[in-house]
Amino acid sequence: MKPKVYVNRLIPEEALKKLVQSCDYRIWDGELAVPRDVLLREIPQIDALLSLLSDKIDGPIMDAAPKLRVISNMAVGFDNIDVREATKRGIMVCNTPGVLTETTADFAFALLLAAARRVAEGDRNVKEGKWKTWGPMILLGQDVHHATLGIIGLGRIGAEVAKRGKGFDMKVIYFDTTRRPDLEKTLGVEYRDLKSLLAESDFITIHTPLLPETNHLISKEQFETMKKTAILVNTARGPIVDPKALYDALRNRRIAYAALDVTEPEPIPFNDPLLTLGNALIVPHIASASVATRTKMATMAVDNLLAALKGERPPHIVNPEALAK
Ligand code: DGY
Repeated sequence: MKPKVYVNRLIPEEALKKLVQSCDYRIWDGELAVPRDVLLREIPQIDALLSLLSDKIDGPIMDAAPKLRVISNMAVGFDNIDVREATKRGIMVCNTPGVLTETTADFAFALLLAAARRVAEGDRNVKEGKWKTWGPMILLGQDVHHATLGIIGLGRIGAEVAKRGKGFDMKVIYFDTTRRPDLEKTLGVEYRDLKSLLAESDFITIHTPLLPETNHLISKEQFETMKKTAILVNTARGPIVDPKALYDALRNRRIAYAALDVTEPEPIPFNDPLLTLGNALIVPHIASASVATRTKMATMAVDNLLAALKGERPPHIVNPEALAK
């Protein structure tokens, strides 16, 4: 009998084809996330779950899944899964690191450039018929070249963003809980404590995972430390930035601009006050959304899942302790 798999959303065909060969699978083909009651109905039968970052996989879901051996998340982040609960039950949790690094770094830089040079406002003005003339004072932005880029979290993605910053002749500084002398040397970046980084940077970009310690890491006090001209970019996780403090900082021009791929909550409600601000550029969590990268992420998620079902150690397991259970 083939193992049974539930796939929480339509994923690229190449990855699905791999599943078909050795598993019986069912798939949620709705446009929105699989409803919790549907997942609770499906999960008692399955051996493996392919989940997305928008699916909350917690203890009660796992309690309904006596046969579940692996939760394979199609994302590098896995804050949507209660890993501790999974480990207690001997359920493996896997993620998709590496394959989205450069695509996400490209996008963080795209947001940074768009915010600095007011690309979204320019587009809006043209489409609203407001382009009347070339003007010496129209839509003046900030130079990126030779500015200071502050990176919070110098992991894989943060390091790629540093390279892009260097390509634009920026001075690149970083904060991380672990200092990285190797990268300081190879990338030519300098370490700062968080407060100094916030005070010194023209652009601040976040690349840390969402953990209890990073929840609302950027709040009122941190905005008060930033330059008034600072531009904040977040492509990591929404809750790392306190949304109320962000709104106040943008509205009161405590900082100049924010460009966000991620929000708290997601999706951001249409009546959220942040959406009324001209100095907030917000896009719907698409930093890894290139055809090639999403195919690689889905294939990696399937490979992790198949390895676990074969009794092998999945290449990207985040809770190896579960193997000992
Ligand atoms: C991830 O993989 O965690 C990213 O947020 C997806 O874009």
